[in-house]
Amino acid sequence: MIIKNKPSWQLGYHEVTPEPVFRNRRAFMKGALAGAAGLAMPGLVWPGELPVPGEALDFDKRPGLSTDEPLTPYEDVTRYNNFYEFGTDKTDPAQYASAMETAPWSVTVEGECARPGQYALEDLLKPHDYEERIYRLRCVEAWSMVIPWVGVPLAEMIGRLEPTSKAKYVYFETLVNLEQMRGQRSAFSVIDWPYQEGLRMDEAMNELSFMAVGLYGKTLPNQNGAPLRLVVPWKYGFKSIKSIVKIRFQEARPYTSWEKIAPKEYGFYANVNPEVDHPRWSQKRERRLPSGLFSPNWIETRKFNGYGEQVAHLYRDMDLKRFY
Ligand code: MTE
Repeated sequence: MIIKNKPSWQLGYHEVTPEPVFRNRRAFMKGALAGAAGLAMPGLVWPGELPVPGEALDFDKRPGLSTDEPLTPYEDVTRYNNFYEFGTDKTDPAQYASAMETAPWSVTVEGECARPGQYALEDLLKPHDYEERIYRLRCVEAWSMVIPWVGVPLAEMIGRLEPTSKAKYVYFETLVNLEQMRGQRSAFSVIDWPYQEGLRMDEAMNELSFMAVGLYGKTLPNQNGAPLRLVVPWKYGFKSIKSIVKIRFQEARPYTSWEKIAPKEYGFYANVNPEVDHPRWSQKRERRLPSGLFSPNWIETRKFNGYGEQVAHLYRDMDLKRFY
C-alpha cells in the first residue's frame, strides 16, 4: 500500500481521483487533462455564474446537533461538487445539473416494510417538520465544508414507512436518466448506474442521519442532489447519496457503488477516520473550504468527523481498519 504524505493540493490529479476514473480517462484522453490538475484543488472554484438559489423553505432552527463553526460560503458549497451523473470534474455538476427535472419527483419504497409504494416527495416528507442542521461534510478526497442543511431526521421518515424486524439495512438509489444526466451517457463512466448507497439500520436511525431537501434555507440546488439527498455527517461524503428515487429495506447488506468500483479503497462503512489512510493518500488532515493555494486552511481530521459522541457506540466491537 502506497501512502502519500504530501498535502492533497500537491498530489497529481490521478492521486485524488478514484483510480478507475483516472485510468479510463488517461487511456482515452491522454494528457488532455493536464489543465484539470487545478480542479483537484479544493477552493479553486469555477469562476462562472453563481447558481440560482432555490425556493425559500419553512423550517425550525434546532441548534442541538449543529456545529457553530463558520459556514462554508454558498458559492463553494454549490460550485465545487461531486455528482458523477453530470461528469467527474468538480465543476461539472454546477454547469450541467440544471438539465435534471426535479418536479414532480417520486420515490419508490420497497422491501421489508409495512408501507411500500410510490410516494410523491411531499408525501414522503412532511414539510411542516423541516429543521436546519449545520453539519460538517468531510469528503474522502480530503476537503471539508460546513453546510446548513434543511430537511428531516432520516429516522422520522423511516419510522413512517414502518420497517419490519427483517430490515437490517436500508438501500438508496439515485435517478437514472440518460437524457438529463450527461455523465450517464459518457463512454468514460466508471459507475454502473444507478448510484447506490446503503446504511445499517442502526446507522440510519441515529439522530444525526438526515434527509436534506435544502441548504442555506432554500431548496437544494440540483448539483447538491435536489430534490432529496442523504446526509451522514460522520461518514465520508460519498455515503451522502443525491437525488434519491428508491429506498429499500432489506435483510442483506447492500453492495454500494464505490465499493463495486474500488473495494480496496472504498468500504461499506466509510466512517471518517484519520487513523485509517486511504491506500493512495493520508486521511489525517483536510482542507476546509474555502481554501486556496496561499491559504490552504488545513485542519486535523477528527475521528467520526467529530461526531464520536453520537456514533462511536455503533462500532464498539468492530475493527475499523478492517471495516473501513
Ligand atoms: N450521489 C450521487 N448520486 N452521485 C455522486 O457522484 N457523489 C458523492 C455524494 N453523493 C455522488 C453522490 C460524493 S463523492 C460526495 S463527496 C458528495 O456527494 C458531495 O456532495 P456535495 O457536492 O453536495 O458537496
